[in-house]
This record gives sequence, structure tokens and C-alpha cells, in this order.
Amino acid sequence: MPHSPPTAAPRQPAVYRSGDVREAVLNARRAGQRVGLVPTMGSLHEGHLSLLRAARDECDLVIASIFVNPTQFGPQEDFLAYPRNFDGDLALLATTGCNMVFAPTEETMYGPNHSTFVEVGPVGQVLEGEFRPTHFRGVATVVLKLFELVPADVAYFGRKDYQQTIVLRRMIEDLNLPFKMRVCPTLREPDGLAMSSRNVYLSPHERRRALALFRSLRLAEQLARDGERQVQTIRQKMEREIAETGGIDLQYVAFVADGTVSPVEQIEGPTTVALAAKVGTTRLIDNLLIQPLTPNR
Ligand code: PAJ
Repeated sequence: MPHSPPTAAPRQPAVYRSGDVREAVLNARRAGQRVGLVPTMGSLHEGHLSLLRAARDECDLVIASIFVNPTQFGPQEDFLAYPRNFDGDLALLATTGCNMVFAPTEETMYGPNHSTFVEVGPVGQVLEGEFRPTHFRGVATVVLKLFELVPADVAYFGRKDYQQTIVLRRMIEDLNLPFKMRVCPTLREPDGLAMSSRNVYLSPHERRRALALFRSLRLAEQLARDGERQVQTIRQKMEREIAETGGIDLQYVAFVADGTVSPVEQIEGPTTVALAAKVGTTRLIDNLLIQPLTPNR
């Protein structure tokens, strides 16, 4: 019987901690390689890995960045407590065929006199922006800096952070950035909870409660499928579903024309339903794209 060849151990990605990464990326591009960048804050889960696999499918060189970006956290938020697991992340990245990891030190990203920020305008002021007023300014600033340090061809983002994709698309267009942007679907746990690095904060009891969020999004989808077009009606039913579960502080449920942050009152085309809620002290966001019932012709 022929022996099957031993499976090769996953190759550890090369780790860069400073701006040296730029030269490595430029060299790869000069050699004709297509380069993909997956920005993350680490504590990686399958949702992140799905972005890396999408990059692996389309690019010759795949780079993940890992940086818990202080400027996107508000003063009362969880920057210090945010989960960090660099060794575990490296092991997971190796399984995806990721070639390089850019894990800059805080000094590389923000020198002591740093004072320049990207102002994202109205797309960053609604929804998440109402509860996290400086969040998207921090996200846009760090992503622009990552784009400078890692001049890739394509950058990969998750639909899980719907408004983030809208803000970053706006920035890429407004600042003429030579990046293609890919948005990949939300990965969920088998019971529907959207994967998130923050899910580790949830107690078993809170985690069960948190399922009401996706349930309410599915309810919206079902109502729209059954022909309900009034956002007000759908929103009320979602709120009831969440209130009946208890222990969830719903911050907003927004219905926006897909690809925008503009609210709609009627479901007339592809609509994204986005919500945020606190379950205990953990703030979760989720969203779902829903479609109106298309009448049979
Ligand atoms: P982070 O929360 O680590 O997420 C990194 C990327 O993974 C984002 O594009 C996010 O949308 C995506 N992602 C997270 N959970 C996902 C899921 N369940 N399914 C699919 N994709 C998912 O988003 C950030 O970091 C930061 O704001 C960042 C862009 C890195 C800037 O600091």
C-alpha cells in the first residue's frame, strides 16, 4: 500500500512589527504578486479566518494585520480589557496560508505627538456614530495608516461591521486610495450568534439571551418575505421579540437602503437591518440584508 505523504506542518507567517513591512509588500508587488490585506484587532475567530481564506483564493501574498487600535475606543469602552491572544492568532493564521502578519507596536502607529485624524463625515455620525461618536474617526485613521504601511491591492472586510464597510468605502473613494475593497459575509455560530471577539465576555446565561438579536433579524426577514413593507410594523415586532427575552438593552434597530446608511420607511428594495444592544455589559452589533416580497408575474 502506498503511504500517503506526511501532511506538511502549516507554515508560520513572517511577523513584522514596524514600517519595514512596506518594503516587503512593495517587493512582492514589483515581482507581479497580487497582495491582499486583512486588517484585524486580533483574538481571531472563524469570521476573521473566512476573510483570510477569501484573500488566499484571490491573492498571491496574504497579510493579516493585528493591532488593537486605541483611537477607535471611547473613554468608557473596553480598550484595556479587549481580548488579546497573539500566539493563538499566529497558530490560526498559519492554518489559513497567511504569509505575513503585520503586528505594529503602538509607537509605530501613534507617535507621542500624533494629532492627524481622518474625519469621515455624516456616514460615521448615525447608527453606531450616535453611541460611539469618535469610533469611525479612529477606524478610518488606523485603516488609512495600515493602507500606507501595507500598500496591498485588495483589502478584506466583514459585513458583520456593516457601517464600517460603508465608512471605509467612502474614505477609499474620497481620498482616491488605490485599494479594492472586498466585503465578505458574516459568519455565525451554529445557533446564529454572529461571531465576535467580544462574545467571550458573555456569561452562558447572557449568551443565550443574545440569541434574541439574530432571532429578531430573522423575524424581520420573514415578515418582509411575507409581504410586510412597513418598517414601523417590523421594528415593533422585533422590539417585542427582544423585550420578551429580557436582559437586553437595545440601543437601535435601523433599516437602511443596502449599501448606505440612509433610513427607509418602507421595504421597497434590498434593505439592511442593523442593530446594536448591550447584553449585560457587552455591546453587540449585528445586521441582516432583507429583500421585499417580489410579486409573482
Ligand atoms: P475586528 O473586529 O478584529 O474585525 C476584523 C475584520 O473581521 C472586520 O472586517 C470585521 O468586519 C471582520 N469580522 C468580524 N467578525 C466577523 C464575522 N462574524 N464574520 C465575518 N467577518 C467578521 O473591525 C475591526 O477589527 C477594526 O475596526 C479594524 C478594521 C481592524 C480597524 O481597527
